[in-house]
Amino acid sequence: MIYLSIKNILIYISIFQIIQVAHAKNSYRVDHHLNVLNDAQWESVPITLNNKSKINSFYTNVKSFYNKSIVNPFNKYISTSHHEYETINKNEENTIDNIEFPRLTGENAFFIDFNCNVQNNVKFCKNAEKAFKKAADTISNILYIYSGPILINATLTSFCELAHPDGSACNADDPTRRKLGQAYPYSSFPVKAVDPIDGDTDVYLYPQALLRQLDIQSDYPDFNQYDITAEFNSDVNWYFEEDEDDSIDDDQHDFLYVAIHELIHGLGFISSWRTLLDMDFHYLTPRAKQGIAKNEDIVLGWYQMQILDKYISLNKTGMYLREMGKKIMSYGNSGDMVKQNVWLEGFHKSESGQAAQEVYDIATSGKNVFSIMSIDNELITYLQTIKNTFIAGICMGHLDNDEYTNKPDFLLRPYVPKGEDVNDLIEKGSFSYLNEEEKSRKELWYKTAFGPHLISIMETIGWPTKYHPERRKVEVISGSPLQYAKSSWNIFIIFATLIIILF
Ligand SMILES: *[C@@H]1O[C@H](CO)[C@@H](O)[C@H](O)[C@H]1NC(C)=O
Ligand SMILES: *[C@@H]1O[C@H](CO)[C@@H](O)[C@H](O)[C@H]1NC(C)=O
Ligand SMILES: *[C@@H]1O[C@H](CO)[C@@H](O)[C@H](O)[C@H]1NC(C)=O
Ligand SMILES: *[C@@H]1O[C@H](CO)[C@@H](O)[C@H](O)[C@H]1NC(C)=O
Repeated sequence: MIYLSIKNILIYISIFQIIQVAHAKNSYRVDHHLNVLNDAQWESVPITLNNKSKINSFYTNVKSFYNKSIVNPFNKYISTSHHEYETINKNEENTIDNIEFPRLTGENAFFIDFNCNVQNNVKFCKNAEKAFKKAADTISNILYIYSGPILINATLTSFCELAHPDGSACNADDPTRRKLGQAYPYSSFPVKAVDPIDGDTDVYLYPQALLRQLDIQSDYPDFNQYDITAEFNSDVNWYFEEDEDDSIDDDQHDFLYVAIHELIHGLGFISSWRTLLDMDFHYLTPRAKQGIAKNEDIVLGWYQMQILDKYISLNKTGMYLREMGKKIMSYGNSGDMVKQNVWLEGFHKSESGQAAQEVYDIATSGKNVFSIMSIDNELITYLQTIKNTFIAGICMGHLDNDEYTNKPDFLLRPYVPKGEDVNDLIEKGSFSYLNEEEKSRKELWYKTAFGPHLISIMETIGWPTKYHPERRKVEVISGSPLQYAKSSWNIFIIFATLIIILF
């Protein structure tokens, strides 16, 4: 009975969505569901684009926007299900060089909705929250936030308890004990650059926090309720500078360090590259769209690559990795639902499969094979790779661990040291040997947690910074996630599937 009525509701919702597809200007966003025990699950969600001129008339100039953001308590976004983001009027952009542009700082830049699932330890929770605010301040000193506040759903909880809900033992060697925390954008949007200098108008996924800072020339998408989701492990022996007279112990981790690191991921330092369908194949690919229909695993094609992936190149040849990504994604991208095993069988035999194997071989061939060049073509940054192994979430999504140890760019390495807090590492990095190009940028990074390489990568993916405050022009693309689906029956089945996954 219950099953039947749910099914009816699903059918109604699906039909409603099909009608929407026909009558409104649609787009979609990719929601990243984060869970301590899994890596983020991705899902396309249909959305409607809002008429921009309407939004502009609400907020006629930058100043009134700024005033508004000060008088309104930010929790209004959290307490109501419907909300509207405030964004700077694009007509003001000409004045960017002439006026002090009203960027947001402190509580206006970040709002942290902090859930502390730690019983009977108020001090611990308070310290964590304070450290979080400090992390947000550190970031908003370097990255310029014009449209805020960036909303973070942060949770401090026992990863051990989550992994063992039945109360079974969580031993000292339990893998969850090694996980300090994780963060991810809530959603990403398919976006293309408008009049880009490099001529590349392909569509990439932009994380919401970044997209909100850019000069959006198209209609506005429905933004998600939060920008970033972050989870921290309360089982870790954390150090908080706030409340301790002495310095960090040898077996402690600095919470502030981990909080800044994780927030940077949430702001867009993430890669789509991973082993195909998270299986044990020696293939690396961008994310495939997976689903379940009629109790069978299906594949629907691919998500676009994340904006970070656009800039990764094979250091040896200078070729962009995205070209291999495109080749891989040319397989099975008709938008049709294909049974997973059938889809895989075809992939094994295809040229795309070969390209995916090549990428795997390169990624596991050793150190410093992938790099990102700064916009001014001066500074090369190496991404983390490991010989003979690929670990999703660690490889390619961080700076190389060895290359940047005891350097100003310590922050985005995948491994966080014990017994050193962020200030110790800033100190150490400042005295390290640097090449000429890194030295020449000293005014940028000196005495901050942001090294020159990290700043250059954030600028490359489009973040306005203290040194390059201008906002990139972009357009959110319209079209349903299933734009290329061949029949409405496909759409019907696929939407129903998405909803079932949502439930
Ligand atoms: C958006 O608003 C403008 C002006 O109010 C109007 O001319 C335009 O047709 C609207 N576009 C859509 C898609 O509704
Ligand atoms: C912003 O607020 C200040 C102080 O409350 C006020 O003087 C100013 O007129 C406001 N500006 C706008 C554009 O509303
Ligand atoms: C906030 O994050 C927690 C932990 O990741 C999650 O359980 C919760 O559902 C999230 N809240 C919202 C509103 O998404
Ligand atoms: C990466 O490429 C640059 C530019 O071609 C070159 O100078 C550098 O030595 C290369 N690095 C490695 C580790 O091969």
